[in-house]
Formats: sequence, C-alpha cells, structure tokens
Amino acid sequence: MINGDVFISKEQIAARIEEMARDISEDYQGKELLVICILKGAFIFCADLVRKLNIPVDIEFMSVGSYEGTESTGEVKINLDLKADIKNRDILILEDIVDTGITMNALLNILEKRGPKSIKLASLFFKPARIRKCVNVDYLGFEIEDKFIVGYGLDYNGAYRELPDVQVFK
Ligand code: IMP
Ligand code: MG
Repeated sequence: MINGDVFISKEQIAARIEEMARDISEDYQGKELLVICILKGAFIFCADLVRKLNIPVDIEFMSVGSYEGTESTGEVKINLDLKADIKNRDILILEDIVDTGITMNALLNILEKRGPKSIKLASLFFKPARIRKCVNVDYLGFEIEDKFIVGYGLDYNGAYRELPDVQVFK
C-alpha cells in the first residue's frame, strides 16, 4: 500500500529530465537517434524526455517483462518487439528503473545481436543495492535506496502508474 508521502516529486523529476535531455541532445548532435521506450514503465519518462530534446528523434516501443509483484522472476521475455530494423542505427533505450539489472542485461544482449551502430541506456531510476547483472546506465536520473517505488509510470501489479509523484510502496 501507499500512504501519500512523496518520495521523489514531479518537480524534482522534471528538473532532472531537463538535465538528462541536455546531455543527450549534446551527445547525439548531428546523428539520427532512435529512441526505444520500454513499455509500460517508461512511457511517461519517454514522453517528458523527448519533448526536452533539441534534436530530431525516431521513437519505437518495446515491451519486456520479468516481474510479478515486487520480485523479478529472473526470466526475461519479449512481449512486444520492435517494428523497426535497428541495424546501423544509433539507439537509446529508455527504461524506468534498473533494479537487479536482469531485464536490461538480457535486452541489451538481444539488441546488440541485431547490429546497431551504437547502443546506450537512459534509466530514470537505479537501485545499486540489488544489482545482480552488470548493466552500464549511460544516462541516470536518480540513484535510490532499496525501496519499491510506484508512480510516474512505475507500477505495483499494474497499479499506481498514473501518480504524478513517485511514492514508496510498502
Ligand atoms: P530488473 O530486471 O530487476 O532490473 O527489473 C527491472 C524492471 O523491474 C523495471 O523495468 C520495472 O518494471 C521493475 N521494477 C524494479 N524495481 C521496481 C520498483 O521499485 N518499482 C516498480 N517497478 C520496479
Ligand atoms: Mg519496466
């Protein structure tokens, strides 16, 4: 359950996303960036981030999952694959949160086999305490303690994605 206490506010998130967007825009100046939004958790992050970029982007969606409740099952499956061919493209994956790293480690391996020119990861949240698989987060929003968070796109069994601020689920 949640108690209404704000853990990370929408204002903090907006300010951090502006900084991330500035870095990303600088790094991809003159390139044709393909952003891959990882559904469902990153949909709000993606919508806010791309509107702060000052470079043109293509946007694709992908859905991968390994979670039930608050624990990873350890098994990653693709629920929705890309429509676009990513061969020779500059790819930026947008993820809501890297927790154990299992999902992103597996996804990066899958996408690297498709021959992109470059592949980087932007994650809004990262929980270093729980990492099990090595994942390099190129653009990170917030490092957080070992808490299960909801809101701003993040869910507990499908609930709370619509909350504007991030709260802790207990
Ligand atoms: P990982 O494979 O353990 O890194 O898990 C990554 C995925 O688990 C994220 O994309 C989220 O969907 C989900 N997840 C992990 N931690 C949280 C959390 O604190 N709140 C909501 N979802 C989470
Ligand atoms: Mg997710």
